[in-house]
Amino acid sequence: MDFQAIDVAPGEYRGDALLVGLFEDGPEFASVLAGLEPAVATTVGEVLGEEEFKAKLHSKLTIRVGNATSVRKVVVIGLGSQNKYSLEILRECAGEGARALKSARAVQAGVWLPEVKTEPMLSIEAIVEGCRLALHQDERFRSHSDNNGAGSGGPQLTTVSIITQFPDAQAAIGRADIIAEGTIFARELVSAPANYVTPPYLAEQAIAIAQAVDLSCEILEKEDCERLGMGAYLGVAQASDLPPKFIHLTYKPADGKPRKRLAIIGKGLTFDSGGLSIKPAKGMELMKMDMGGAAATLGAAKVIGQLKPDIEVHFIVAATENMISGRAMHPGDILKASNGKTIEVDNTDAEGRLTLADALVYAEKLNVDAIIDLATLTGACIVALGNDIAGIFSPNHELSQQIQTAGELAGEKYWQLPMEEGYFEGMKSMVADMRNTGSREGGAITAALFLKQFVEKTPWAHLDVAGPVWSEKQKGYLNKGGTGFGVRTLIRFILA
Ligand code: BES
Ligand code: MN
Ligand code: ZN
Repeated sequence: MDFQAIDVAPGEYRGDALLVGLFEDGPEFASVLAGLEPAVATTVGEVLGEEEFKAKLHSKLTIRVGNATSVRKVVVIGLGSQNKYSLEILRECAGEGARALKSARAVQAGVWLPEVKTEPMLSIEAIVEGCRLALHQDERFRSHSDNNGAGSGGPQLTTVSIITQFPDAQAAIGRADIIAEGTIFARELVSAPANYVTPPYLAEQAIAIAQAVDLSCEILEKEDCERLGMGAYLGVAQASDLPPKFIHLTYKPADGKPRKRLAIIGKGLTFDSGGLSIKPAKGMELMKMDMGGAAATLGAAKVIGQLKPDIEVHFIVAATENMISGRAMHPGDILKASNGKTIEVDNTDAEGRLTLADALVYAEKLNVDAIIDLATLTGACIVALGNDIAGIFSPNHELSQQIQTAGELAGEKYWQLPMEEGYFEGMKSMVADMRNTGSREGGAITAALFLKQFVEKTPWAHLDVAGPVWSEKQKGYLNKGGTGFGVRTLIRFILA
């Protein structure tokens, strides 16, 4: 699927189908439709009347208008109320519209959607992201891809022409193509099973990204990590038959003068069985998504290597899996992290924080201006915020605000949760510096407080993305499975 920007009157666009957006409280439908070819406008107007179409948000109609007309079909999508219109509504409507265009068997389609007035450039980007992400279909693990119920059959939409007067639209399309591709890369990492996406596989992917977009890549092997004293990370890794891979990708601007320096860390548990504190069988298969933070981190690396901002960015993943074996950690074991702090492991299923502890210590040694970690860290965060919203924890108000703003532009939702110091009481250990779990109540908060023990002075934010990295249903531009959550926020944050 290719996108192109065209500055024509909508009535002049010729193709198989045209997507038209209407507001429920905007200009009269007839005055908007007057922009179309008269024969098309008449038919669409009549059908909208007959069907009592009100342009409620997400409502849509596919209308066959003729075969000698400028387009054969028009897909009308309701944009809801004008004062609630946003980049995210535009992105969702573009995605739903693209699905409808494909169902209408359009190969060449036009998109005529209103831009968000203050953000013409991001509007074009939102249209491209919405269309690409909605039409992404993951057929990697099927032996045949014809009509398997996923709606992938039928002709493919190959050319999408965005009708716009924005002069830099072509550049916006190029950028959004790269961002959507990075998001899809992350989705596919998350959706793939744990016998496919393993710690060595993640390392290979990192090396491939480094080669493709010119980043430097260092993979620390188990022995390197031992030398650095990463006992917390290696404690988690010790039950696996697969070697741990500590991934460090670096992007540096070519002129050697970065405006600022950042480290992004992604939790990279390619499978979380819970270890000896084993998880229930029901739902365990979903724990292939416990590398959602790593997927977002690698996806962002791939994008940043192409967009080349004037910012230095380190992308870090302490990849491993949490397994059981005769070598597994026992509940009660004491581990020593690379900053010298000791941890009593009272629950082997609180493993993500152990891997992140050593990654945070490593990141801080890089002397960056800020550290952001993304982790599918706690079920408690899902209980608190549901599946669509990530938790954000940070002692640094400015940093958390910047991430929230980036999330709003990206259409990814965050809600700040408190780092209530008093709750760390419950993590005190009789034998070590701390335990790896606190009380069940406020579990997302105690997890964040645990991480805080491994950051000394660098501004840091922790994003608990356990809910939004996975979607149980098709919705807006999301499909069932991995969502690629985090990539777009990171890009907006880094580019800000
Ligand atoms: N990977 C899980 C968290 C998780 C749960 C992610 C559900 C996505 C969906 C994490 O390693 C974990 O097991 N956390 C425990 C912590 C507890 C043992 C303190 C949890 O949330 O139950
Ligand atoms: Mn776990
Ligand atoms: Zn986990």
